[in-house]
Amino acid sequence: MDYEPLITEAQIAERMPALAAEIARGLPDTREGLVVVGPLKGCLVFMADLSRALWKVGVAHDYDFLRLASYGKGTESTGKVQMESDLIHSVAGRPVLLVDDICDSGRTLTFARAHLLTRGAASITTSVLMDKPARRAVPFAVDHVGFTIPDAFVVGYGCDLAEALRGLPYIGLYKA
Ligand code: IMP
Ligand code: MG
Repeated sequence: MDYEPLITEAQIAERMPALAAEIARGLPDTREGLVVVGPLKGCLVFMADLSRALWKVGVAHDYDFLRLASYGKGTESTGKVQMESDLIHSVAGRPVLLVDDICDSGRTLTFARAHLLTRGAASITTSVLMDKPARRAVPFAVDHVGFTIPDAFVVGYGCDLAEALRGLPYIGLYKA
């Protein structure tokens, strides 16, 4: 099935080095031990591309993951974030780059940031591929945004509809 592209593969590929460079400039001076943390599963494709783009601008890092869920099977968030699995390694005293596919209501990143702080992260910088500012339910300002998008449900590049369509290599508009 085809989905109307909102952001093409070429646009994502073009944006990634500039976004990585912007993140590199914004990281604290002491970025020793930087860990990139993403909430699974939506973060996966963006994090994979961003990781390599960060490497190319000289930002060494390792990874960790949270498993967070709020959407269930539909296109509307349930409004409640649940942590299904926690970090594997300690982030205590380390700078963290928290990344996700989309910032929508802001609840997931709010939850993740609070959790990382309770685990002793030294600093938290945030980046998302897509920001939907019109949808915010809780105030959350993302530090580095790939693309600002309108209030629409999108699929592909890691974003799912009830677990389907994550492998679509571009960002498509989902119309019910
Ligand atoms: P928030 O907690 O409402 O900010 O939602 C963030 C999470 O919901 C993201 O990590 C995405 O995985 C998911 N999400 C938000 N909008 C969309 C969408 O348009 N398509 C697919 N997933 C979405
Ligand atoms: Mg998600």
